[in-house]
Amino acid sequence: MVLCMDLGLKNKNVLIVGASKGIGRGIVKGFAEESAKIVAIARSEELLKEVESEALQSGASSFAYEVKDIMECDTQSFADELLQKYGVFDVVVHNVGGSLISRDHLGGADDWNYALKFNAVAAIDMNSRLIPPMIERGYGRVIHISSISAIMLRGNPLYASAKAFLNAYVTTVGRQLAPTGVVLCSVMPGAVAFEGSYWDKSIKAGEPKVEDFLRHHQAVNRFGTPEEIANAVLFMASDKSSFMQATNIPVDGANM
Ligand SMILES: NC(=O)c1ccc[n+]([C@@H]2O[C@H](COP(=O)([O-])OP(=O)(O)OC[C@H]3O[C@@H](n4cnc5c(N)ncnc54)[C@H](OP(=O)(O)O)[C@@H]3O)[C@@H](O)[C@H]2O)c1
Repeated sequence: MVLCMDLGLKNKNVLIVGASKGIGRGIVKGFAEESAKIVAIARSEELLKEVESEALQSGASSFAYEVKDIMECDTQSFADELLQKYGVFDVVVHNVGGSLISRDHLGGADDWNYALKFNAVAAIDMNSRLIPPMIERGYGRVIHISSISAIMLRGNPLYASAKAFLNAYVTTVGRQLAPTGVVLCSVMPGAVAFEGSYWDKSIKAGEPKVEDFLRHHQAVNRFGTPEEIANAVLFMASDKSSFMQATNIPVDGANM
């Protein structure tokens, strides 16, 4: 069990977009341990098959996956297909995003649109179809994985700006949704390391920037784990978040 309190997530219909590795895979494991019904999306079928066996072993009540590139499809039609196949979701977690995109702060619209779509707008487009049936039913949890970069505004400017936009979406649209029973929120991780991640490669290569980064930017003096991010997501997915509308929650080892 990731958390000891009963989160009431057993048999909840949960969609996780960006579920094959890293933080998303940790989130799948967390929901599996809570015996949720999981639908997982990513591009790599090979990895999704691994996630499937992990999830079923961890206690998922059911597991299905769809291989899809959300940067290359009609995201509204894809969301419609998911609703038709799996029904209205209780919980949606949008995890796709990242900073390994153009770092050219003087780049043009192509670079900036890509950063925005990857970190926010592809998910927002899906929400335009996934949220209305939640409103009709009077219940839903929509959780975006943002980043502490959204408020620290350091590092790749395109990434930080895109996540700041995502946070603004959560705050403004979350307020509109607050009376409907749908909680829209984000979790903002600090730097997280896992097998194969950016920071994992730097740690294994003994790069001095690792110690430098931790000393200056993450007061806890270590990297976070996908499980530590998943814990916050599970809480927000539960009924226990019923007074936490439109919030962006740092889970960042005291980022500074
Ligand atoms: N890692 C950190 O330190 C950190 C810190 C703060 C915030 N975050 C945020 O946390 C989220 C996850 O980060 P991560 O480091 O775990 O990333 P990651 O290792 O790159 O994993 C991203 C997940 O999304 C899937 N994905 C990527 N592009 C996709 C696409 N076009 N269509 C469908 N699925 C796609 C990937 O699977 P496939 O490759 O199989 O498609 C994978 O499952 C991101 O939003 C990131 O900005 C991460």
